[in-house]
Amino acid sequence: MTHQQELAPGPDHEDAAAASATAPKKVFMRTYGCQMNVYDSERMTDVLGSEGFAPTETLEDADLVILNTCHIREKAAEKVYSELGRIRKIKEERALHGKDTMIGVAGCVAQAEGRELTRRAPVVDLVIGPQSYHQLPALLKQAGKGGRIVETEFDIDAKFRHLSDAAARSAQPAAPRRAPTAFLTVQEGCDKFCTFCVVPYTRGAEVSRSVEQILAEASQLVAAGVRELTLLGQNVNAWHGEGADGKAWGFGRLLRRLAEIDGLERLRYTTSHPRDMDDDLISAHRDLRQLMPYLHLPVQAGSDRILAAMNRKHTRDDYFRLVDRIRAVAPEIALSGDFIVGFPGETDADFEDTMDLVRRVEYGSAFTFKYSQRPGTPGDLMDGQVDEDVKTQRLHALQELITAQQTGFNASRLGMTFGVLFERKGKRPGQLVGKSPWLQAVQADAPDEMIGTVQPVEIVEIGRNSLFGRLKAGQDESAGA
Ligand code: SAH
Ligand code: SF4
Ligand code: F3S
Repeated sequence: MTHQQELAPGPDHEDAAAASATAPKKVFMRTYGCQMNVYDSERMTDVLGSEGFAPTETLEDADLVILNTCHIREKAAEKVYSELGRIRKIKEERALHGKDTMIGVAGCVAQAEGRELTRRAPVVDLVIGPQSYHQLPALLKQAGKGGRIVETEFDIDAKFRHLSDAAARSAQPAAPRRAPTAFLTVQEGCDKFCTFCVVPYTRGAEVSRSVEQILAEASQLVAAGVRELTLLGQNVNAWHGEGADGKAWGFGRLLRRLAEIDGLERLRYTTSHPRDMDDDLISAHRDLRQLMPYLHLPVQAGSDRILAAMNRKHTRDDYFRLVDRIRAVAPEIALSGDFIVGFPGETDADFEDTMDLVRRVEYGSAFTFKYSQRPGTPGDLMDGQVDEDVKTQRLHALQELITAQQTGFNASRLGMTFGVLFERKGKRPGQLVGKSPWLQAVQADAPDEMIGTVQPVEIVEIGRNSLFGRLKAGQDESAGA
C-alpha cells in the first residue's frame, strides 16, 4: 500500500530552478534525534550528491533544506516547527533575489504527522518518512513541479537495498576518504511496543538487514579508511539473519564475522534491549578484541510495577542477573543506560527503586529523561500522569547520582594506559582528539598522521568532558583494551 498523496499546489519552483541551473545546487541538512538519523542523513547526502547537490552548512545558501527529525519527546518534535518558522523567513528573503528554496521534512516527525505537517507548516514541499529515502531524487523532481508531496510508505527492504548502493557509490576509489569512525545500520524498527514510545509507529516493524549487505558495506567503509564501526538498530541485538553457511545467525555471530575484516580495529553497537542479550552475544565481549568494553543497555526504570506498566517484559532482577552475566565475562565493561522519570503512576517509592538500581549497577554514563506524553502511545492515555514539578525533582536527583558515578568512572582512568583511536585534530595545534575503549573523549599531543590509528596513551589528567593523555610510544601491548 502506498501512502503518497499529492496535496494542494505549492509555489512553482520551475522558474527559479532554471535561473540557478548554472550554479551547483546546495543542500542544507539538519539532523535531530538518534544515531540512526545521523546515518540516514549521511546516506541522503550521498544520494543527493549523485544528483548534483553539494552540502552546505549555511542555510542562506541552500537550494534544498532537509530537516531529519525526531518524534521521541514533545520537545524534540516541537523544535522542528520553530526551525521551519526560521527557514520560512530565509526562503522569503531568497525569493526576493529570485532564488528558490525547496524544503523537505524527513525522519520520525514526517512519518508520525504526514500530511498534518504540511497543514501546520505550509512552507514544507516534501514530507518523507524514514523508509522512503531511496525515493528522494524522484520525489524532489515531483515536488519541483509544484504541489506538496507526502510519502510515508513502509518499505524497508527497498530502503536497505538502496542504502547499500549509496554506500557502495560513496566508497568507490575516487570517493573521498571517510572519517575513522562510522555508523552502519543493521536493523531498523521495533516490535516491543513499550507503552511510552513512538518508535514502533515511526520506524515500523523490526527488520534485519542481510549478512551480505552488512558485510559488503562494512568492507567498503573499511576500504575507505574507517577503523571503528558502530552497528545501529533501534533494537540492534534483536538482529538475526542467515549466514553464508545457510545457518541462522544471531547478533553475536554477526559481530564475530565482522571482527574478521582486516583493518577494522573497533566494533561497537547500540541500542540493545535487555531481553535480546543472549549467551553468544555476551561471550563475544570476552572473545573479540575488537569489541569495545562499553554497552548501552537501557533499563528505563527500577520498579517492577513501572517496568510492567511500561511493557518492558523484564523485571529489575532480570536486569541485575543480566548485568552479572555480562560482568562475569567482561569485568572491564562500562555500562550505560536510558532512564525515564515520572512515568504515569510512578510513586516516590517506585522512583526510589530506580535510584537503588542505579546505585547497585553503577553506570559509566547514562541518559535521563522526563516522561513525555506521546500521542498514539498507550502511556498517553494512562491515569496517574505525574506533575511536571515532581518529574523535575526526580530528574535532578537521578542526574546527580549518575553524574557522580560518571565522574568516578572517569577518575578511575587516571594513570591508566590504553588504546585511543584518534579521530580528528584538537583545538590546539599539535593536539589530536580520540576515544577511549569506554567511549570517553581523550585529548593528547600527537602528529596528524596518527589520525585513524589506535595508539597507547597514558591518562595524566581528568577534565570535565574529556580525559587528557600522553602518547606512550612503543608500548603497543597495552593498546588493545
Ligand atoms: N530502542 C531503544 C531506545 C529508543 S528511544 C531502547 O529500547 O532502549 C531512546 C530513549 O528515549 C529511550 O530509551 C527512552 O529512555 C527515551 N524515551 C522514549 N520515549 C520517551 C518518552 N515518551 N518520554 C521520555 N523519554 C522517552
Ligand atoms: Fe521504544 Fe521500547 Fe522499542 Fe526501545 S524497545 S524502541 S524504547 S518501544
Ligand atoms: Fe527519534 Fe525516530 Fe530516533 S523518534 S530517537 S529519530 S527513531
